[in-house]
Amino acid sequence: MKITVINGIQHHGSTWHCKDLLLQNIASHLEIEVTELYLPRDMSHFCAGCFSCFLKGEDSCPHADQIKPVVAALEAADLVILTSPVYGLDVSGQMKALLDHLCFMWFSHRPNPQLFNTVGVSITTTAGAGLSHTTKTMQNSLKFWGVKKRFTSKQAVAALKWSDIPEKKRRKIEKDLAALSHQVVRAVATIDQRRSPLFAKMMFNVMKRMMKNNGWNPKDREYWQEKGWLDGTKPF
Ligand SMILES: Cc1cc2nc3c(=O)[nH]c(=O)nc-3n(C[C@H](O)[C@H](O)[C@H](O)COP(=O)(O)O)c2cc1C
Repeated sequence: MKITVINGIQHHGSTWHCKDLLLQNIASHLEIEVTELYLPRDMSHFCAGCFSCFLKGEDSCPHADQIKPVVAALEAADLVILTSPVYGLDVSGQMKALLDHLCFMWFSHRPNPQLFNTVGVSITTTAGAGLSHTTKTMQNSLKFWGVKKRFTSKQAVAALKWSDIPEKKRRKIEKDLAALSHQVVRAVATIDQRRSPLFAKMMFNVMKRMMKNNGWNPKDREYWQEKGWLDGTKPF
């Protein structure tokens, strides 16, 4: 199984350890090939808000040299894992900065069919609050990229460090991630037979209608046209 992990923080804290437990459990079922990206090391810019990606194409992004390898890693994956600790009730700033750069791949613009048969997982840890909102931020991107099957892991660790997590809680986290690994392995194995989410079909149809009516952005329309999506070809 090819796995791409985007770590929303560089250090090996509680979030990293949760992700590592998931990888170890998946590896106990089958062979895995993992590409790990760390933020901000592998994408260190904020979105400039220049609209270039939308209007001229993603290659014209001022940060394309860092964005292209991220997109290539996402395209190559059977499983995409996004991780972030809760910072101020949301994802880390560096994770948000990356997700902003990838809005051109949302259904409303130029969704990438290479992500449609992918499984996605978000992993977040918190001292106490903010799991839902933080999870939603990462899940929104997976959803609007068209990732077919999505899972979440939300851990209230009640600690500032992995080593401070009480034994009982640690065992519960280990159990949760072992269970999640079974679900993920099954989802990847059956991804081709799974139906695409209703949301994806609905968004595709709404956007197709907008693109046919010329939409707001010729670059997006051109992309939909090239894919044959405006002439009846369906991606799912
Ligand atoms: C800058 C910063 C902001 C944080 N904001 C919150 C917060 O809003 N709510 C909360 O319960 N914990 C908050 N925390 C605690 C972390 O979410 C928590 O300790 C998490 O497990 C750390 O994960 P890590 O070890 O992977 O870095 C914050 C920590 C930092 C460093």
